[in-house]
Amino acid sequence: MASTVEQRLKEVAAVGQEIAETGIAYLDGAFVPMAEAKVSLATHALQYGTGVFEGIRAYWNPAQEQLYVFRLREHYERMGRSVRILRVTLPADAEGLVKLTLELLRKNGFRNDVYVRPLAFKAARSVKVALRGLRDGFGIYAFPLGAYLPTGGLAARTSSWRRTADDAIPARGKLTGAYINTALAVDEAHDYEADEAIFLTADGHVSEGGGANVFMVREGVLTTPPVTADILEGVTRESILTLAKELGIPTEERVIDRTELYVADEVFFCGTGAQVAPCVEIDRRPVGDGAIGPIAKRIGDLYFAIARGDDKSHAEWRTAVYR
Ligand SMILES: Cc1ncc(COP(=O)(O)O)c(C=O)c1O
Repeated sequence: MASTVEQRLKEVAAVGQEIAETGIAYLDGAFVPMAEAKVSLATHALQYGTGVFEGIRAYWNPAQEQLYVFRLREHYERMGRSVRILRVTLPADAEGLVKLTLELLRKNGFRNDVYVRPLAFKAARSVKVALRGLRDGFGIYAFPLGAYLPTGGLAARTSSWRRTADDAIPARGKLTGAYINTALAVDEAHDYEADEAIFLTADGHVSEGGGANVFMVREGVLTTPPVTADILEGVTRESILTLAKELGIPTEERVIDRTELYVADEVFFCGTGAQVAPCVEIDRRPVGDGAIGPIAKRIGDLYFAIARGDDKSHAEWRTAVYR
């Protein structure tokens, strides 16, 4: 069964704390002290959730004295797709934003695991609810971050809040306002002492977690909902599908029923924040035998080793911050 609620809460306690206003941020063309990276109260994105963001992790490798950013370019490529949905213009292409991020991380001199948060947003002080003709803003900040979801076996709950459909608020774009959906679902999960929510689509099939993609293992096949199941097309999800194929684990992207998760041998969440987070309990039912399964363990160990640079494979997924 899942470790105790107290243990799980302790592992993720830091996520709930306010981010310190220390270090250097980037805002609208300049590196500024984080404490000075401010926007107006009248900002469109603050009023209406018209922002696009990314979540990127960098892992500190103490033996190599190196900070490795995981799949940095791919995150900015996705941001480039998200902004097309919201009609926001980015200040640079993916390569330019990669350079900017590396400069920011170097200026901060981090020697620990960090989370990087780029944000592109409708910066105009305007009450007009529309997308065109509004000034855009862009910023990046970064801060130390440990686990976002418990990694030692968590409990999930199917949400009564449905995933926003693509023809309402598209989950494919990492849009700030869309995370109201996540906040409602995760809050409900917490009310029931679960760590993460599982969203169903409007037609009742499994979509994803509140802030992570979901995988299950049935009959040895690693299965995840398709990109048409109102999911964020996760960078980690794609990495895991790649790793599984290399390990010879059969994979499938297909529609998943809610109760398939109840009878699955293994379930786990994955994402930049979540990393690889095995799920050992859903709706108060043990997943499999209620312990972390062998495929989740194997994939999780490999993910962490590659991301931190202890495993040298997939060098193209890591960008070294320090020369
Ligand atoms: C709703 C949602 N789904 C999935 C993911 C996973 O995406 P990625 O692996 O690109 O971080 C995230 C973010 O981590 C998310 O917020």
